[in-house]
Amino acid sequence: VRDEFLSIAGHELRTPLTALKMQLQLLERMLHNPQLSTAQLPERVGRALSATARLERLVTDLLDVARIASGRLALEPEACDLGDVVREVLDRFSEALGVAGCTLSFSAGSASVGRWDRARLDQVISNIVANAIKYGAGRPIDVVVGVAGERASVSVRDRGIGIAEADRWRIFERFERAVSERHYGGLGLGLWIANQIVLAHDGCIRVDSQLGQGATFVIDLPRSAS
Ligand SMILES: Nc1ncnc2c1ncn2[C@@H]1O[C@H](COP(=O)(O)OP(=O)(O)O)[C@@H](O)[C@H]1O
Ligand SMILES: [Mg+2]
Repeated sequence: VRDEFLSIAGHELRTPLTALKMQLQLLERMLHNPQLSTAQLPERVGRALSATARLERLVTDLLDVARIASGRLALEPEACDLGDVVREVLDRFSEALGVAGCTLSFSAGSASVGRWDRARLDQVISNIVANAIKYGAGRPIDVVVGVAGERASVSVRDRGIGIAEADRWRIFERFERAVSERHYGGLGLGLWIANQIVLAHDGCIRVDSQLGQGATFVIDLPRSAS
């Protein structure tokens, strides 16, 4: 398992690294060749930055796995509004949603205040939304934030490839994936990390799905973790 993982991780890291290197080489050529048009400068820099962001996410995931596995995930709970956290995440994904062709509907009731680690919650929601975009087949995505008594929840529904019943528990395990690596890149860590963070808040993540019919992930949290 370890050798296989190293090989997958190596490939995943190399893809954005290659993109970054290529953009930097093109920029270097522009620099040494003053006659070359600089019209493509913004695009080159933009691509270099997005490859860098992808690398950063992969490395952060790897470090998080090590941190969580060794019991070093320390939460820093503070009063925050779940609706606000979700809105921030969705703003950040607006470009990716557009590129994927997914329209988004978002609804949040009035206040959904609780005590949570805001940065970690952001990470959980980001992972689930990133999956909805990646596996959502360009179809609409619905995000709903709700509060019921002492609990708050976020549900993220896509209408993409869905998950077979036999895979539904497995995808929350480390490195487990239910898609071919030829079609979809990824390390199989996002849901494991998200689930560990939610468990640390005494919450849970549920998934409801049919193969080919999309998936709904529900993050359910007590408003104040014990
Ligand atoms: N919204 C979704 N629709 C269909 N399958 C999904 C969805 N989210 C997660 N999965 C499945 O769960 C697996 C694990 O997800 P994740 O841990 O985020 O890893 P990764 O996205 O890197 O593969 C994915 O490889 C995919 O098979
Ligand atoms: Mg993922």
